Amino acid sequence: MDVRVCEVAALDDPGRKVVEIEGQQIGVFRLGDEVFAYENRCPHLDGPVCQGKMLPLALEAVASDGTSSGRVFSKTQMNIICPWHGFEFDIRTGVHPTDKRVRLRRIPVRVKDGAVYVTIARATHANQR
Ligand code: FES
Repeated sequence: MDVRVCEVAALDDPGRKVVEIEGQQIGVFRLGDEVFAYENRCPHLDGPVCQGKMLPLALEAVASDGTSSGRVFSKTQMNIICPWHGFEFDIRTGVHPTDKRVRLRRIPVRVKDGAVYVTIARATHANQR
């Protein structure tokens, strides 16, 4: 079932919106012209991961002599940080930066005529929490 979430222009860039559809909380993210959607449930302990801070990946800047010149923010990778215990996930992939087995549950999402739509299964007793 396709569900209209909002106009793309209603989302900040970068930005997100958390909605509840059929009893399922979903975080929809905008990064430029791209949109992504995930179940708002952290794979660690079910925290509301999509409501955490959005921050660029922090990288170590290493000089040619191998010494650190401090931290810099990635210009290409934006992460969502779970507000409960700080697990981070790449918003484009939903994957944890160091343990690729730990990932968010992706929800199909698309833009049509300037609006964001997610595709969800109809709620049944089997998939309700
Ligand atoms: S519940 Fe998300 S980091 Fe623990």
